[in-house]
Parts: sequence; structure tokens; C-alpha cells
Amino acid sequence: MHIGVPAETRAHETRVAATPETVRKYVAQGHTVSVERGAGAAASYPDDAYAAAGAQLTDATTAWATELILKVQAPGAAELPLLKAGAVLVGMLDPFNTTQAAALAATGVTAFALEAAPRTTRAQSLDVLSSQANIAGYKAVLVAADLYGRFMPMLMTAAGTVKAARVLVLGAGVAGLQAIATAKRLGAVVEASDVRPAVKEQIESLGAKFLEVPYETDEEREAAQGTGGYARPMPAGWLQRQAALVHARALEADIVITTALIPGRAAPTLIAAETVQAMKPGSIIVDLAAGRGAPVAGADRAGGNCPLTEADQIVTRHGVQLVGYTNLASRVAADASALYARNLFDFVRLIVTEQGTFKLDLEDDIVAATLLARAGALAR
Ligand code: NAI
Repeated sequence: MHIGVPAETRAHETRVAATPETVRKYVAQGHTVSVERGAGAAASYPDDAYAAAGAQLTDATTAWATELILKVQAPGAAELPLLKAGAVLVGMLDPFNTTQAAALAATGVTAFALEAAPRTTRAQSLDVLSSQANIAGYKAVLVAADLYGRFMPMLMTAAGTVKAARVLVLGAGVAGLQAIATAKRLGAVVEASDVRPAVKEQIESLGAKFLEVPYETDEEREAAQGTGGYARPMPAGWLQRQAALVHARALEADIVITTALIPGRAAPTLIAAETVQAMKPGSIIVDLAAGRGAPVAGADRAGGNCPLTEADQIVTRHGVQLVGYTNLASRVAADASALYARNLFDFVRLIVTEQGTFKLDLEDDIVAATLLARAGALAR
């Protein structure tokens, strides 16, 4: 099969969908791989490393005109015309963005959105949300530590003692758990909250304190279980009690990392504007849901877990710096690409036969769940 790896063109995107390591594996399987010149440069994978791995270095048009195109992000409007009808496209294609998906379907490609893979043991090695969220959680803490005007660990020096930073992590999924672990390693005192009771043990095993908001009704208990491992929106009563606890704990915190997402819906508001106003000056909020929260009243933008966060910006409000980077994984481009490229390699095995032909096995739950478009129509 002829595999193409075009360069990513979206703003703030530095990752690449195949690394020399995975190119070597594709070539060993008998595939031809065309990599657009410079595609790996921003992730520290130079052209000569791809050539040494057996890739052909090409222009963008050639990479897009292949039978199987490997991408990080969905093609933009300028790239859609480069796709050939009948080709297969695999990437993080943002399956809930229906306008974008419809435009993609109209090109006649067969497209797979890897974010939609089920959260099963078999799908773990190709779980792109996990591989990238893990990196985002790690980098969120480093960005916060860099902006924070004080030390993270407790230090006893000849000039006096410095207190450890207090870090509050909201949402303890893949990103949140990695943020907790990273903040602990830097010596911070960490506490965390989530709607799903199952994470209490995981939070405590990392040495952080679990902020518990007890359930008062069966409806709350049921909603907290989530669906397929994901959170569901919680009843208003529970959210109010959670908000009061989060407000109180945020006032004690130096760094707040928010990671709460609900697939296919706006991210919940967890840090109110009034909470930011009441936080200590010099505090930092890193909002991993930036740009994916509720629309902000009076402004033409979506917030994140905090309405004051602005996507792709660092803004200072009430003496608190709010970080709204939407692509933190891209800031660890080499490793983010390495893990993502391995996820893709594991997925490609499900849709390509040993003879190098495309197969669409809809009995395979991973293939069926990720299929976004086929034969000019949306598959979901
Ligand atoms: P996510 O990125 O969709 O959400 C992040 C976190 O925010 C979740 O833990 C969610 O419960 C939490 N959240 C949502 N609303 C909230 C609110 N109002 N307040 C506080 N927290 C809130 O989730 P992610 O990180 O993708 O993982 C979801 C689950 O799936 C995790 O339990 C993870 O361990 C599990 N998982 C299972 C896999 C497997 O079995 N193969 C692979 C990867 C993840």
C-alpha cells in the first residue's frame, strides 16, 4: 500500500503522524511511504532520518495523493481538494465537529477518527486520547511551574524556609492523573476532584488528597458512574455542592489545573469568575478545556473549565495568570509524535491486510467505532 504522511499545517501543531521508527516498520511490511519534506522537522525528526528509514521524501501533493494518508489533525479547507476519492484517511479528525466531518465525507474518502475508539483493553495501544492527554497533563504542570513566581517544593535554606506550592487538579482522568504525579514529583502538595468515584483510589495512590463531594440522591450516584469510562453531566444539586468546595479549595491553591471534559458536550464550568477574583495574586490556572467550554456571555468565544480562560492565550485576570493552550501535547512534540505514530501503526494493522490491501471489517468494534466517513457519506 502507498502510505502518505503530509506535514501538519494547523496553527500550534508541531506533531507528525509517522516517525522514522514507524516508517521503518511500514516499509518492513512491504508498504511504500511518502513523507512530505519537512513533515517531522518541528518534532525533531529530520528528513534524512525518514530517508534512512526507507521513506520517499515528496511534496505535499504527492503525500496527499496516496492510498492511505496518516495525519495528526483533520485536513483544513485548503487540503481537502488534495484528497483523492477512494483514499483512506486516519487521524484525530474531531468526530463531534459535524461541519468538518461532512466536508471530509464529501471528498469521497474513507475516514477514521481515532478519538472515537472504544475504551477497551484491546484498544489501549491505539488510544490517542490517552497517549496525548498523558503528555498534556505533564506539560500543564511544567508550564504552571515556569510561570509561578515561587518554588514548587518545600525548601529549608539559610535564608529561611519556603513553603511547598499547593496544586489543585480538577478532573482526574488520564491528563489529571499525570498532572497529579508530575506535581508530586516536583514537591507540591496536591489535591484533586472528579465526578467519578472510581478515581478516589487512583488519586490517593499518587499521594494526593481526594476532595470528596458526597452523593445525596440515587440520580447523582448513577450519573457519577458515567458511560463507557467517560463522565456524564452531573445533576445541578451535586454541581452546586462541588462548586462550593472547589471555590474554597481554589482560594488555598497556588496552581489549579483543570482537565474536566465530557465527550461531545461543552466542558463543565468548574472555576467561576468570582473564584478567580478571590484567588491569591500570583496564582496560576492551566485550563486544559480551553476553547471547549460554554460560550462566554458577551464575548464571541467559548471558555474552558473557567470562563475567563482564552484559547491559546495566557491572560492575567485579577492577578491570576490563566493559561489556555489548546495543544499542550504539541509542546512535547518529539515524544507526543512518537506515541501517536505508534498508536496509528497499531490501528493501521486493523484496516490493512497482509497483502497490503484495505479491508473494512465492521465486525471489529474498533474499526466500526472509529469509521467517520465512507463512500461520500458520514458513517456516524
Ligand atoms: P476525559 O478527558 O473525557 O475527562 C477528564 C476527566 O474529567 C474525567 O476523569 C472526568 O470524569 C472528569 N470530569 C468530567 N466532568 C467533571 C466535573 N464536573 N468535575 C470534575 N471532574 C469532571 O477523560 P479521560 O482522561 O479520557 O478518561 C476517562 C476515563 O477512561 C478514565 O477513567 C480513564 O482511566 C479511562 N480510560 C480507560 C481506558 C481503557 O480501558 N482502555 C483507556 C483510557 C482511559
